[in-house]
Amino acid sequence: MSVLLTERLRLRPFRDGDAEAMFRNWTNDEEVARFCRWYRHKELKSTKWLLDLYLREAAEGFDHRWGITLLENDDEVIGSVEVVGVKNHDQNAEIGYVMARRYWNKGYTTEAVKAVIEELFRCGYTVVCGRRHTDNPASGRVMEKCGMHFTGMDREVRKYTEYDMCDVMVYEIVRDDNKMYQQE
Ligand SMILES: CC(C)(COP(=O)(O)OP(=O)(O)OC[C@H]1O[C@@H](n2cnc3c(N)ncnc32)[C@H](O)[C@@H]1OP(=O)(O)O)[C@@H](O)C(=O)NCCC(=O)NCCS
Repeated sequence: MSVLLTERLRLRPFRDGDAEAMFRNWTNDEEVARFCRWYRHKELKSTKWLLDLYLREAAEGFDHRWGITLLENDDEVIGSVEVVGVKNHDQNAEIGYVMARRYWNKGYTTEAVKAVIEELFRCGYTVVCGRRHTDNPASGRVMEKCGMHFTGMDREVRKYTEYDMCDVMVYEIVRDDNKMYQQE
């Protein structure tokens, strides 16, 4: 899996030992979980289980999930960006992302998502999309700053384990075929 470097960030595969930072930085935080499809992790063991799943999926070849770290500290994951779904014969990728609350509003997620969009276009995807709850404007702002456009409304389950439905706004960006996306 490729490591992506930006001006301030390193996006790298998750690795053994990341669970503590994930728990400290986002999985244990209700303010992050409220807009995600999972519930806040009350105990570190839930995050260890999730990290094990990430490592298993990576070993099986899933290489579109990145832990975000600051360039100066590769050990501390402060967020993540991943492909959460693929459609249309592997042409369309839906992404999801989180950032530790203490790093919000510094432009880090925008920087990371821009790099991931470029990478996905390089890998052959032609459309990258994302969804956000109507009451989560910060996420919409991230997508707009990444060049994604609002395409319409949809309904989805609020949490994976519930039938409670909510309205979401869908954004997408289409690959510009006049632009060169450098192959690895
Ligand atoms: C959404 C999230 C990832 C944004 O991360 P971030 O690192 O703060 O994002 P950025 O700093 O790159 O950009 C945030 C933008 O939202 C804006 N913003 C923040 N709160 C806002 C609000 N209440 N209303 C409107 N805009 C808001 C910021 O001002 C900034 O825009 P600007 O650069 O034009 O000023 C982060 O808030 C988060 O993890 N939230 C919880 C999980 C989540 O919502 N994930 C996405 C699910 S769709």
